[in-house]
Amino acid sequence: MAIGRHPMETYCGFGVVGAGLIAPFHINAIKDSRGGKVLGVFDVARDKAAQVAERFAVKAYSSLQEMLDDSNVRVVCVATPNHLHRDAVIQAAKAGKHVLTEKPPAMSLRETDEMIRVCKNANVKFGCFVQCRVRGAIQAMKSAVDSGRFGRLLHADAYMKWFRPQEYYTSDGWRGQKKCGSGVTVAQGFHYIDLLQHLAGQASEVDARMTNIGHPGINLEDEVLAHIQYRCGARGVVQLSTALWPGTDIRIELNGVNGTAIMTGEKIQTWKFRDEQPEDEQIRSIGDSSQATGAGGAADFGHRDHLVVVQDMIDSLSSDREVVIPVTSVRPTLEIVLAMYQSAKHHRPVTLPVHDDDTVWS
Ligand SMILES: NC(=O)c1ccc[n+]([C@@H]2O[C@H](COP(=O)([O-])OP(=O)(O)OC[C@H]3O[C@@H](n4cnc5c(N)ncnc54)[C@H](O)[C@@H]3O)[C@@H](O)[C@H]2O)c1
Repeated sequence: MAIGRHPMETYCGFGVVGAGLIAPFHINAIKDSRGGKVLGVFDVARDKAAQVAERFAVKAYSSLQEMLDDSNVRVVCVATPNHLHRDAVIQAAKAGKHVLTEKPPAMSLRETDEMIRVCKNANVKFGCFVQCRVRGAIQAMKSAVDSGRFGRLLHADAYMKWFRPQEYYTSDGWRGQKKCGSGVTVAQGFHYIDLLQHLAGQASEVDARMTNIGHPGINLEDEVLAHIQYRCGARGVVQLSTALWPGTDIRIELNGVNGTAIMTGEKIQTWKFRDEQPEDEQIRSIGDSSQATGAGGAADFGHRDHLVVVQDMIDSLSSDREVVIPVTSVRPTLEIVLAMYQSAKHHRPVTLPVHDDDTVWS
């Protein structure tokens, strides 16, 4: 398969920026992909880059520029802390590299829009690892929504009752700072707010309250309780926490006039529609060989969903199409999240669209 930049190239070369907790998930996903090859990693902490490079037998670049100068690197995966994605994304795009960034795209709409613009101008693809969207259960729910099987959607809810120990928040400077996206709303909850946005569409209003109930001395919310009004008319609740030991599987629930679907972890728990279809029995078995989905620990999950996102980027390059999760489709999720912070800060419901309000981080 000749999908590289040069006619003789038989692989799609990847570079990974940031060699921390999530980097091995990216590397394993690329290694397991059809046509992808990890060429190297870069981290400002050279020892971390060296360790990961040795573990996976890839190169440790000495600078981001060195990675970008490598003409065999076609795609750059950005796995730096949340508030630092922008610089790497923009530098990579301007060097003509396609980009897959970790979630959230950035901590502001301003930076997100800038990255989208720069990638568009550079004519490079710009995707995001909100990889829960690719789970079989979510794809089944999405197609039931799109084909109208729910009828009028009434509720779209997310429950994430997880646990992270105190040391998780003190393990690195950025993990204890709200403005770096280390509160539960961004660090863990972003995925599930994204699933609601993906399934039920954009919110028109959110009302959120944020508290710290289980991590004393850390200036972050470890609990969010929110109400969402969706533009489609549905309503929903979002309950997110990392203070609920030992942590149980997340739940995404959709209720429409004509049906109910519930995903627990990555399994279909409930799948019931008034118009039972032949494929429904098979859909009910989705997730039977379930993998852990992060309830009890930060690395307590597999790289299967990341692999789908990586494979999609490779395939999108060979067939010259858009990636399945472009950052443009994740921007509305960031908007909901920012609206939640604004609502919690001012103790009132917030109507979308919103603009950046940096006072929420203080
Ligand atoms: N998709 C998921 O399921 C998932 C899971 C965990 C983390 N994440 C996301 O991945 C990102 C990284 O999280 P993590 O837990 O791996 O963090 P981490 O702190 O473990 O790793 C981040 C690494 O980036 C490095 N770094 C910082 N600034 C840099 C720069 N300018 N250039 C190069 N390297 C730099 C740090 O030295 C560190 O090694 C975050 O955006 C986080 O939200 C996503």
